[in-house]
Amino acid sequence: MNERIEKIKKELENIKIESLQQLEEFRVRITGKKGELTQLFENFKTVIPEKKKELGKELNLLKNAVINTINELREKFENQETDRNTIDLSLPSKQDDIGSRHPISIAKNEILDIFKRLGFTVANGPEIENDWHVFSALNFPPEHPARDMQDTFFIAKNANNEHNNILLRTHTSSVQVRVMENQKPPIRVVCPGRVFRNEAISARAHCIFHQVEGLYIDENVSFADMKQTLLYFSHEMFGKNTKIRLRPSFFPFTEPSAEMDVSCTICGGKGCNICKHTGWLEIMGCGMVDPNVLESCGINNKKYTGYAFGMGIERMAMLKWQVKDLRLYFENDIRFLKQFESVT
Ligand code: DAH
Repeated sequence: MNERIEKIKKELENIKIESLQQLEEFRVRITGKKGELTQLFENFKTVIPEKKKELGKELNLLKNAVINTINELREKFENQETDRNTIDLSLPSKQDDIGSRHPISIAKNEILDIFKRLGFTVANGPEIENDWHVFSALNFPPEHPARDMQDTFFIAKNANNEHNNILLRTHTSSVQVRVMENQKPPIRVVCPGRVFRNEAISARAHCIFHQVEGLYIDENVSFADMKQTLLYFSHEMFGKNTKIRLRPSFFPFTEPSAEMDVSCTICGGKGCNICKHTGWLEIMGCGMVDPNVLESCGINNKKYTGYAFGMGIERMAMLKWQVKDLRLYFENDIRFLKQFESVT
């Protein structure tokens, strides 16, 4: 019996096991039902009582050593196995999720790029504005309904001083005022930005949206110049076959004023659901800068004339990609945003 114990001991000391499978074979051969150690315990029953104590101790020590070795080796092999899984260099690398531009940014950049090609520069202004830059300098009379709480988010109201009347700008036309106050003509700027209106949020309206404002002031600037610029813009933005039409309108800051439509980007003018079967889509307001506005901003209105225009970026994006619900632009749902991955 001693010999067999010694044999197992030796094997434990010089153990050469290199895989989980070999370990399992070893386990079965030593501690299995008919294993070498199991048999030794069987034989132990027949050992004479005087030897039982010593031999029993030895067998138990051996049994513990075997179990410990098996457990240690098993742990080692299992860890190796997971290591190999996590650092398998032959696996293709994990794809990093890269973000995509927001459709509003894509549309904004496209609009700005078109005007940059015509020599316009980009100007920015504050979102928190005063009454002067948003309304008064733009020829809004004091009682104009746009100043009403219904439309404008007021921050601090001071009836006596329009410069201390603080509000969130309702349009980016305020930036043209700041530019005119600080630059001398010729002026050619486009002003992108966020605007705010006190509107209930729905598929068709939102209290936050984006606009691009345009302004061109120089000597002898005419309505025809404006028309040509906006025609060029429409061709670049919506395609060479796009037609434009100007309908008379009213804005306090332009005279004459117009709304501009483009031929429907979906049906090409034949009539469809998107253009409500008119063949036309309204895309912006525009007009010749009112001489009162030039004067308010310190520009000689005898010498200079100019045109201005303003468009909604959401509207442009909507027409380009047929997004029918404005709220999608603000929810940042990854399933919506991912669809624009390939656009730029
Ligand atoms: N500010 C106008 C709006 O928010 C848009 C606009 C119309 C801007 C005509 C202009 C313009 O510069 O000439 O609805």
